[in-house]
Amino acid sequence: MAPWLSRALAALPILASGAHALIESVAMRGVPLMPKVPLKNSAVHSPNGDVFDLSTVYYFDQQVDHNDASKGTFQQRYWTSNQYYQTGGPVVLMTPGEANADGYQGYLEDGTITGVIAQQNNGAGVIIEHRFFGLSNPIDNLNDSSLALLTIDQAVNDLVYFSQNVVLPWTGGDQVKAPQTPWILVGGSYSGALTAWTMVNKPGAFFAGWASSAVVEAITDFWGYFAPIQENMPANCSADVQAVISYLDDAHDNNNAANLANIKNAFNLGSLADVDFASSLMSPIYSWQDLQPSSGAGQPFFQFCDALEVKDGQSADANGWGVDNAIAAWGKYYQSQQQGPLCGNASAEECFGTADKTQQFFTDVDVDNAGRSWSWMVCNEVGWYQDGPPSGQPAIVSRMINTQYSEGLCTSMFPTVFTSERDPAVDKTDSTYQGWNLQVDNLFFATGKSDPWREATVSASTSPAKTSDNMPIAEGDGFHCSDLTMDSGSVDQTINAVQTQGLAAIKAWLAAK
Ligand SMILES: *[C@@H]1O[C@H](CO)[C@@H](O)[C@H](O)[C@H]1NC(C)=O
Ligand SMILES: *[C@@H]1O[C@H](CO)[C@@H](O)[C@H](O)[C@H]1NC(C)=O
Ligand SMILES: *[C@@H]1O[C@H](CO)[C@@H](O)[C@H](O)[C@H]1NC(C)=O
Repeated sequence: MAPWLSRALAALPILASGAHALIESVAMRGVPLMPKVPLKNSAVHSPNGDVFDLSTVYYFDQQVDHNDASKGTFQQRYWTSNQYYQTGGPVVLMTPGEANADGYQGYLEDGTITGVIAQQNNGAGVIIEHRFFGLSNPIDNLNDSSLALLTIDQAVNDLVYFSQNVVLPWTGGDQVKAPQTPWILVGGSYSGALTAWTMVNKPGAFFAGWASSAVVEAITDFWGYFAPIQENMPANCSADVQAVISYLDDAHDNNNAANLANIKNAFNLGSLADVDFASSLMSPIYSWQDLQPSSGAGQPFFQFCDALEVKDGQSADANGWGVDNAIAAWGKYYQSQQQGPLCGNASAEECFGTADKTQQFFTDVDVDNAGRSWSWMVCNEVGWYQDGPPSGQPAIVSRMINTQYSEGLCTSMFPTVFTSERDPAVDKTDSTYQGWNLQVDNLFFATGKSDPWREATVSASTSPAKTSDNMPIAEGDGFHCSDLTMDSGSVDQTINAVQTQGLAAIKAWLAAK
């Protein structure tokens, strides 16, 4: 069930709760999400004396369809703070993008870049939930026809319409509409891209923007997701993972039943189809996306490498221990550390199998299912299928994981819209929003060298984007969206430098207004 995880959604650092938690945690791996930050202090005193509870949910009457006002409005959730606000200050708006926004309220406070931008500029803060995620749904189900209203264009218009019409629920909150009041749009990952795309598509609607790990270029076959991981992981671990993948792919390509049985049985996953077994091997690789400079030792990614590389108290040299040891050690690690958390009591087929199109993973249309909503966006507009690389490139995931595999998942999940496999409309997305070629003033890009999403950002090795005073691009040594939390800056000087540069740019732009 979880295959989606393998590509479309790659790498969600959030664990879902409830009956389908395990399946969802697998299904959502590979989603370009920004980190959750909970509130520290919900009750705050603002400069004007209001005592304000940051955990209060507010609702905005948002247009169901920005192309057809007759469809009416729906309630879009938001949270706000006037803790740092003084008359004349900006409003800092952030959406977490493809997630239930509850749990991101900490972005109103000074542990995050959004809170600090507000604090330094006497601004207000707003966290808004993206349409069709969490409890902000234009229609109360996620079926194929309802999701027609889930497009980048509708999301861009939501942000603009909100900024121009909202009456924020505090004294003076009726006096802060854009564009008379400068609004600053902030986002990370997909929502970082949405920040850039909104500023390109609606010039002047937002005064400035901060785009963190922003995946501005839509790419169908996004094998580059694994490049920063392969480059930055321990050399011995990379060598051994490549040896295992190569063993599996060779056995598959040559129909070598004995070797296929050998490797699958080492994981006790002998019943899985080859491609589903290949998908199961992606789980430890995806745990790279959960790393942050402040996350400390003992993270799952490094536990995995230790399991492969430390034998009888000794670490392998840069070449690793070789394929036989790697298969045995990885299989044992999977069975003792991963099988339980990922699959619980589910059978191998229930946990990783993709063949059964009637399984709930494909058919559940209840709201607040980020995996399904995100899959819709992936299948239609952005791709980012996290695939094995072309031959000649080092492979830490199997080449069986390819666009055809991902597009097959689209046909299983949205059968009335994807009646056959087809590519997402990435060319249209990249021409409408200009991808790596975008140019817009007062937009700050923050990127990270170890971010698995780096190759879809302006700092990709193939991106022509150049830094400038009006559109700075600052790259630190960080991981995914590391610049969004002040913790990362306090443990890594390069991230601190990115944050300092961006904060100074926003201050200067506001001063020159
Ligand atoms: C989707 O849900 C809407 C609203 O509930 C309903 O009118 C429509 O028939 C459903 N479409 C499909 C394909 O199930
Ligand atoms: C080998 O693996 C160990 C354990 O994961 C790691 O600490 C070490 O840095 C690695 N050494 C090399 C040369 O890759
Ligand atoms: C697995 O099955 C056992 C025994 O039936 C049950 O107690 C347990 O709650 C199940 N675990 C999960 C995660 O469903």
